Amino acid sequence: MTKYGLNSKQTLVTLLISLSLSTSPELISLYNQGKITISSFNLEKPLTEEVEIFIVQINGISCEGCANRIKTQFDSKPFVVDSKVYFNNQSAIVSVIPGNYKPVDIETWVKMVDFKYEPKVIQHYIENKH
Ligand SMILES: *[C@@H]1O[C@H](CO)[C@@H](O)[C@H](O)[C@H]1NC(C)=O
Repeated sequence: MTKYGLNSKQTLVTLLISLSLSTSPELISLYNQGKITISSFNLEKPLTEEVEIFIVQINGISCEGCANRIKTQFDSKPFVVDSKVYFNNQSAIVSVIPGNYKPVDIETWVKMVDFKYEPKVIQHYIENKH
């Protein structure tokens, strides 16, 4: 299973990130929190009605750019459908296609961005989208 529109989505994300970094820290903050999305470019319907949600406490996030690197890491994983990283309260919400990942996988991804981060999945549940 591959994610739809991956290449154009990534190009757009890269563009958005470059613009945000050079113009407004607020913009990138909104992007990190999922308040600005590019979902309008995803014309196909999602393949599943259910998503698995991981709420992660991540100690050690020290800037919006750091939060963004963690979000980019989440979004690069094939079964991640959405992710939000909050710099203000050092946490993240990762939505994935159910049955593919365990809490330790999510924590490992954060460690791979930088070993200084201390990630811990504090909640984990299945959510119906509709
Ligand atoms: C962090 O803040 C956001 C809103 O800014 C909220 O949605 C999220 O649930 C918070 N995370 C935790 C772990 O409380």
